[in-house]
Amino acid sequence: MRIGIVRERIAGERRVALVPDAVMRLCRQGFEVFVERGAGEGAFYEDAAYREAGAHVVEEAEELYRQVQLVLRLHMPTEEELELLHSGQVLIGILQAWRYPERVERLRARGVTVFALERIPRISRAQSMDVLSSMASLAGYRAVLEAAMYFPRLLPMMVTAAGTLPPALVLVIGAGVAGLQAIATARRLGARVEAYDIRPAVKEQVESLGARFLPIVLEAAPEELEQRGGYARELPEELRRRQQEALAAYVARSDIVITTAAVPERPAPRLITAAMVEQMKPGSVIADLAAETGGNCELTQPGQVLQHRGVTILGLLNLPARLPVHASQMLARNFEQFLLLFRRAEGQLQLHFEDEILRATCLVHDGVLHPFSPEAVPSAGATQ
Ligand code: NAI
Repeated sequence: MRIGIVRERIAGERRVALVPDAVMRLCRQGFEVFVERGAGEGAFYEDAAYREAGAHVVEEAEELYRQVQLVLRLHMPTEEELELLHSGQVLIGILQAWRYPERVERLRARGVTVFALERIPRISRAQSMDVLSSMASLAGYRAVLEAAMYFPRLLPMMVTAAGTLPPALVLVIGAGVAGLQAIATARRLGARVEAYDIRPAVKEQVESLGARFLPIVLEAAPEELEQRGGYARELPEELRRRQQEALAAYVARSDIVITTAAVPERPAPRLITAAMVEQMKPGSVIADLAAETGGNCELTQPGQVLQHRGVTILGLLNLPARLPVHASQMLARNFEQFLLLFRRAEGQLQLHFEDEILRATCLVHDGVLHPFSPEAVPSAGATQ
C-alpha cells in the first residue's frame, strides 16, 4: 500500500502529516511511503531523515499523486491539486469540508474516497487518532503566550522592592480541549483565571485546574445547550443575547480574554460585542482562537492584530503551525493510528465500514457524499 505526503500549500503552514519516526513504523507495517521533496522542512524534518526512515522522496507533487493510493494532508487540497487526484484514490486530512462545498463536490465527481479527520468521534478507542484534540491543546497553550506578549503588564503577582504588582485576571470562554489547556497555561504563568462554558459539565474540570467557573445560568433545557457526543449547540438568538448580557461584566473586568468557543461545522458563536470590548480597560487583550470560523468577538479580523479603544484583539489563525515540531509529531501519531484501521489484502485497500470510526469520518465514498451529523456520532464510551 502506497501512502503519499505532500508539502502543504497554505501560507504559514509549517506542519507535516508524517514525521520520519512514523514513516519508519509504517514501513515496518508494510506500507510504502512517498514524500514530496521539502514536505517536512517547516518542521525541521529534512528529506534525508525521511529517506533514512525508508521513504521515497519525490521531486514533484504530480509524480507523487500518480504513484500513491492514499494521500495524507493537513488541509483541503488546492484547486490545482484536485486535478491531480484520481478515481479510486483515498484522501485523508483535516479538511474542514463544510467550508469548501465546491471542492468536496469535485472530489466526489472525480471518484476520490475522502476521510475528514475533524469528524473523528469522541470515543475512547478514537482518542489516539483525535487530531482535533491534539491541535486544540497546542492552540490553547500558544494562545496564552500570544496574549501575554501583547499584554503590557505581568501575568503573575510579583513582590519586589519597588512595590507589589498584582496578578492579571484571565477569562477563558469555552472550556473544551483548547480552553482547558489555556486555563492550565495561564495558571502556570501565575495569572488568576476564570472560565465559562455553555456546558455546565465542565465546571469540575475548570475547578480542578485552579480556575473559577463563572456562575452564569442560561435557564435553558440541557438539550438546548448540548448535543450528543459532548458538543455544544448553536444557540437561538434570544439565548445568545442573554449569554452576552451575562458575560459583559466579567469580560469588562478581565485583563486578558481567551475565546475558544466553537460548534462543530458551524460558524463560531458571537459572544463578545463591540460594546463589551469598549467596557474593557485600555491595555487589555482578547485572543480569539475562533478567528478561523468567524471569531467569538465581533471585532476580530482573522489573521490580524488590531486595537479598539486601547484593547488589542488578536485574530489568531492556525496556532498549531507555530509549534510545528510537536504539532507534526502529534499529527503523525494520529494519522498512523487511523491508517491502522484500514485493512489490506494483496496490496489492495479494503474499507470496512462496520468500523464506527471509518463510518463517522467518511465524507465521500463511491460517489456518495455523507453529510456530517453530530447526532449520529456514537457517544457510548465517550470520555471527557
Ligand atoms: P469545541 O472545539 O467544539 O468547542 C470548544 C468549547 O466551546 C466547547 O467546550 C463548547 O462547549 C464551547 N462552546 C460552544 N458554544 C459556546 C457558547 N455559546 N458559549 C460558551 N461556550 C461555548 O470542543 P472540543 O474541545 O472539541 O470538545 C468537545 C467535547 O468533546 C467536549 O465534551 C470534550 O470534553 C469532548 N472530548 C472527548 C474526547 C474523547 O472522549 N475522546 C476527546 C476530546 C474532547
